[in-house]
Amino acid sequence: MIRLGVNIDHIATVRNARGEEFPSVIEAGLVAETNGADLITAHLREDRRHMRDSDIRLLRQTLKTQLNLEMAAIPEMVDFALEVRPDFVCLVPEKRHELTTEGGLNVLNNFEYIARITEQLQANDIKVSLFIDPDMEQITAASDANAYAIELHTGKYAASKQAYYNNDEYYKIKDMCELADSLELVVNAGHGLTYHNVKPIAKLPQMHELNIGFAIIAQSLFWGLPRAVSTMKQLMLEERG
Ligand code: PXP
Repeated sequence: MIRLGVNIDHIATVRNARGEEFPSVIEAGLVAETNGADLITAHLREDRRHMRDSDIRLLRQTLKTQLNLEMAAIPEMVDFALEVRPDFVCLVPEKRHELTTEGGLNVLNNFEYIARITEQLQANDIKVSLFIDPDMEQITAASDANAYAIELHTGKYAASKQAYYNNDEYYKIKDMCELADSLELVVNAGHGLTYHNVKPIAKLPQMHELNIGFAIIAQSLFWGLPRAVSTMKQLMLEERG
């Protein structure tokens, strides 16, 4: 069954906009869990623009499902992850030099470094996912780095105005799912997924998990978080069961 990771970063964005202690990211995580989220995803950025260290620590203590920590591949964050021990770490680019033109992590060009961090985290029972573009060389490098999973960057697919069956990005993702699966990588995806574009991605048979944030948090303004989460999960399950 395909899993939904709800990214709650933007609950913290709203909280920080007024320097208040609400809305609570902990409450958001718990509500998302009871309405169909299989895990909660949060990105602790170097600039702490939304999540704070204390948010991640509290989420670790209170969530009933699993915690997926998105973070840059830097020593400060590795130390933090080893202390807090999320179930998963998703390594993401934050600095220009870590970026490819499309926006995923450049595993190929930083191979030794990323492989070492991956090994260190996984030796401490934290499963590592690498956020990469749907690119054959990056996927092969992720496999060579012994990552547990990849998260395919769906931003270009999502930004396209074309229907998915006319969208080259969709077919790229489809092919790369097959490649990653053949290399025994767990295949996740995320970025830019919405109620309108999620179904074709959820339908891909190798797809294990989708991490979705902005669309769910934005829609929760109108529907409330319970319905925003459960409707997204329902759309995904209609394709896969
Ligand atoms: N996956 C990763 C690795 C991300 O960095 C993000 C954005 O923080 C997401 C998923 C969620 O993207 P969105 O907020 O567009 O749904």
